[in-house]
Amino acid sequence: MHVHPYERTWIVISVALLMVFGVAIVVSSLSLGVEIPGLSARLAPVTAGGVSYDQPWVRELGPGRYEANVFAQMWTFQPNEIRVPTGSTVTFFLHSRDLVHGFKIVGTNVSLMAIPGQVNKVSYTFRQPGEHLIVCTEYCGVGHQAMFARVIVED
Ligand code: CUA
Repeated sequence: MHVHPYERTWIVISVALLMVFGVAIVVSSLSLGVEIPGLSARLAPVTAGGVSYDQPWVRELGPGRYEANVFAQMWTFQPNEIRVPTGSTVTFFLHSRDLVHGFKIVGTNVSLMAIPGQVNKVSYTFRQPGEHLIVCTEYCGVGHQAMFARVIVED
């Protein structure tokens, strides 16, 4: 098989570079104490303002007023389906159990991030009956495109 000398030169250079980088990683981790960041611990479930956020839940505060505690986690939202009557205002408490996720309710102006160790809050009034898809809008790994939930606004 004929390989053009010019091409051969660049193959040699690129392989040599890979080896240099590989050696650099090994040397820096062994002798320089460079550490790859990783998971050390998970925080205990959050309680704030008298509300416990350690479980996903939906609750009715009064007629047409709901609260939903939503977990974002690779690659689901919990609860996965929220049913409310038309005209309901839902306050979402959103947080992540692992890494940064997005939370967009399609067809509304609700779009926020789910951040580990933080509870983000947003309220929205669903005036029309129908179904809203909730999608993750932050890339979060191989299952990202399959991460969704639904709000079903019942007639
Ligand atoms: Cu969660 Cu993308």
